Amino acid sequence: MSAPHRRILVTSALPYANGAIHLGHLVEYVQTDIWVRFQKMRGHECWYVCADDTHGTPIMLRAEKEGITPEQLIARVWHEHKRDFDGFLIGFDHYGSTHSHETRARAEQIYHRLKAAGLIEVRAIEQFYDPVKQMFLPDRYLKGECPRCHAKDQYGDACEVCGAAYQPTELIEPYSAVSGARPERRSSEHYFFRLSDPRLADFLREWTRPPRVQEEAANKLKEWLQAGLTDWDISRDAPYFGFEIPDAPGKFFYVWLDAPIGYLGSFEALCAREGLDFDAYWDAQRAADSHTEVYHFIGKDILYFHALFWPAMLRFAGLRTPSAVFCHGFLTVNGQKMSKSRGTFITAESYLRHLDPEWLRYYYAAKLGPTLEDIDLNLEDFVARVNSDLVGKFVNIASRTAGFISKRFDGRLAPLPTLADTPLPAMQAAAEGIAWLYETREFGKAVREVMALADAANQYLDQHKPWEMAKQAGWEAELQRVCTVALNAFRLLTLYLKPVLPRLAAQVEAFLNVEPLQWADAGRLLADHVIQPYRHLMTRVDPQAIARMLEENRDSLVPPPAPVRHGEHQQHAVSPPPAAAPAAGIETLPLISLDEFMRVDLRVARIAAAEQVPGADKLLRLTLDLGGETRTVFAGIKAQYAPEQLVGRLTVMVANLAPRKMKFGVSEGMVLAASDERGGPYLLAPDSGAQPGMRIK
Ligand code: MSP
Ligand code: ZN
Repeated sequence: MSAPHRRILVTSALPYANGAIHLGHLVEYVQTDIWVRFQKMRGHECWYVCADDTHGTPIMLRAEKEGITPEQLIARVWHEHKRDFDGFLIGFDHYGSTHSHETRARAEQIYHRLKAAGLIEVRAIEQFYDPVKQMFLPDRYLKGECPRCHAKDQYGDACEVCGAAYQPTELIEPYSAVSGARPERRSSEHYFFRLSDPRLADFLREWTRPPRVQEEAANKLKEWLQAGLTDWDISRDAPYFGFEIPDAPGKFFYVWLDAPIGYLGSFEALCAREGLDFDAYWDAQRAADSHTEVYHFIGKDILYFHALFWPAMLRFAGLRTPSAVFCHGFLTVNGQKMSKSRGTFITAESYLRHLDPEWLRYYYAAKLGPTLEDIDLNLEDFVARVNSDLVGKFVNIASRTAGFISKRFDGRLAPLPTLADTPLPAMQAAAEGIAWLYETREFGKAVREVMALADAANQYLDQHKPWEMAKQAGWEAELQRVCTVALNAFRLLTLYLKPVLPRLAAQVEAFLNVEPLQWADAGRLLADHVIQPYRHLMTRVDPQAIARMLEENRDSLVPPPAPVRHGEHQQHAVSPPPAAAPAAGIETLPLISLDEFMRVDLRVARIAAAEQVPGADKLLRLTLDLGGETRTVFAGIKAQYAPEQLVGRLTVMVANLAPRKMKFGVSEGMVLAASDERGGPYLLAPDSGAQPGMRIK
């Protein structure tokens, strides 16, 4: 009873090219990848595309700070992102970039069509302008004193100290975070997508209903629609890194206009490569005729863009709208928001240096459902769950039985005469139920169901005890039969877990000497078939490796990463040797009095600039901002930190150290850092809330 062949296009949100992939992102990419792999195993035509989201002011400014072009920056980040996704076995059919000619052409096409439909309007608006940098300032680049609590250096829209929200115009003593200059108000023409047009509201009220969006999302959207949509500003003034608007020199598409169009651009590149028909998926008429399906997986923070702006753009540009938008919740770690100071803001790269990607894929699968609920990565639970389920229940079935088949029966499985007393019929019968759970994104339920089947297989082994049979003469046939049943159970479990554990499944396919498992293969069993010798499939999680990973991610001052290992070595993540234990009883310097200590003036300082010092092996030149006054300090931290990692961070300095003349200039103080034979120097960083100039005592 195989379902009719479907033609499906799936996307995950396009990650920003201005940051590293972290475990929060991976909730989404793992969820999408599992669903796509499942569809492929069902025999459907399913394409998975994604891309880096490359445009906008932050990328432009960061490139400038690093002294490279935005194109160079996004090329580098693209490789980092691709490496991380490959490491987590995310099987994109194409991973592109929004900075592509395909995306540009589609953005222009959609813009022209919206304009022809009377949905683009030009209007002058007033904004803050940085006269030194000669650019308009997005809110996040505008800083000043909080109008409520008078904390300094707060952002243009909200105060991080007292939590107040306000308009950028209310900031006291506003300044540009880019140049420090006092911003002016200036008027400029902007292009708006007329979301307030009644045609759009009518269309969206109809469109934003289950099953196109989840129930919970539909409620949220209804609230937004009831509050009324305001026109959306889709242009930005030069200088901007993005696509220039065709008939408007000096005006660029706002990054969120071309970001979702990146889905089309990336798919178009795939079409060119694979000879697919783009219009069969995206032209409104052709898509309806060809019954193609399109699904977007996204986080709940970007629902507004994907369920309002995006379908409206598509609809009024004559393109098809998505079959559904699947929205997920946010990741917490140990019950809390990911945090740099707790080390729980874990990058994909650092996870892969310590742990096996399939452990996290399994854990996320076990926690994921079809709702917008947040999901928690509890690290103790992670260790317990992976060790007990994957190693203790699943892999154990093979490791307890495979050796008998290789050693006693030349690797040959028994014929399978009767199945009545075995768990196999029930395991085979579960195939469609488990498929339905994957289809409806009930991954947690699917995993629980598979583990219940694994329990049944283990019970079967505990009852029949092949290890006892092996010790007595005359039980050969029964030993071969029981082990054959167990390995068939193992094959079925592998098949059901294959969307989650693709690499492990490939290893099992090699071990069982079978073709890549498809869902329909659940209807068959292996009998009278020769398998390969069993090789170790998965190790247990070592809690020490987790501790080391957290240590490495603690505060944002991480040392430059060691090269990431690729390929199969990651499977058995070789952890770095444990750090040497500290000597029992630390030898300190002679005691001092509190008064003596208080003579050292320690201050919170912001690293305003960090630069290489030509000719110096160890030194970086730091410009430290003490909240009004700046100091130049030469710090011997070059081996551990790249200058661009440091800019903007808070650290601790000795502010009353006598200036010292060095070969490269005068050093007006010292930053504090920890080191010994185990490593370093590691800069100190105050907790959030501390402000430049605060005294440390
Ligand atoms: N660039 C936009 C998306 C454009 S799509 C046309 C963006 N990028 S992002 O890098 O911030 O996020 C990418 C995806 O990862 C989003 O769907 C976002 O919801 C998801 N997540 C980012 N952090 C997350 C968690 N901590 N937890 C779960 N998902 C998270 O948004
Ligand atoms: Zn405040």
